[in-house]
Amino acid sequence: MTDQPVVLRETEGRIAVVTVNRPDKLNALNREVIGALAREIEAAGKDPEAGVIVLTGAGTKAFVAGADIREMAALTPVEAREFSRMGQGLGDVIDATGKPVIAAIEGYTLGGGCELAMMAHLRVASPSAKFGQPEVGLGLIPGFGGTQRLARLVGEGRALEMILTGKMIDAETAHAWGLVNRLARERSALEEAKALAGEILDKGPVAIRFCLEAVRTGLSMPLEEALEFEAALFGVTFATEDMKEGTGAFLEKRRPSFPGR
Ligand code: COA
Repeated sequence: MTDQPVVLRETEGRIAVVTVNRPDKLNALNREVIGALAREIEAAGKDPEAGVIVLTGAGTKAFVAGADIREMAALTPVEAREFSRMGQGLGDVIDATGKPVIAAIEGYTLGGGCELAMMAHLRVASPSAKFGQPEVGLGLIPGFGGTQRLARLVGEGRALEMILTGKMIDAETAHAWGLVNRLARERSALEEAKALAGEILDKGPVAIRFCLEAVRTGLSMPLEEALEFEAALFGVTFATEDMKEGTGAFLEKRRPSFPGR
């Protein structure tokens, strides 16, 4: 064993890359890894240099092959409930950053790994990636949001097929079903996730933040309230320097340079 941190974070230009770094266990999520992931994602959120966060797994064999089965096997029901809440909490940490989070996916993306990828706002996967919720094969149910987010992303029928059979789907199927936004070239998920980040980074930062909030928060509201929420955020953008710059640049036929305020 090395004394390498279980989660790494580096900032490249305006992109923070957060990497689950436990490749000898296929990046399985134990409590230590989940705690470190929460801290590093939060730190990336606070980093003024970083406009987009890319989440990935070390090595090419797995993004994350699930929650740590060895650690889970010893949990009491009360501890398991806490473990579920801890894993689910990563979704709140991601949303609280106010920045787009893109999962860059190579290899096995199973159980808690698939759930972590679904907490991200966007997913870029290499063609050899494999997705699944195999918990029922262990006598468990998905506990990091999988029963809810998978159905929202791919629809109830496909989600139930994956969850009830525990079978994996390949990247092409995941792409066709909407679980993956972009298929990368082989072993290029990270590179292509950064390219996708680049497409977002030249847009108005406040608008990007509000779009994330409008879509994510709106999805848990009745449509009428969600539309009201959208209108309120739309109104607030008119008080931003970004909006003055974006509309001004269009009218002056030049590229905008957003101050992010
Ligand atoms: N939890 C804990 N350890 C895990 C793990 C997990 N979810 N997934 C993989 N590992 C460990 C293996 O135990 C093995 O450790 P070891 O070398 O100390 O024995 C190491 O990672 C490599 O995995 P291995 O199973 O040898 O690789 P493989 O190529 O033969 O198989 C998988 C890959 C992904 C098919 C297989 O590891 C697997 O089925 N993992 C569990 C997937 C799962 O059920 N996830 C949901 C959990 S809720």
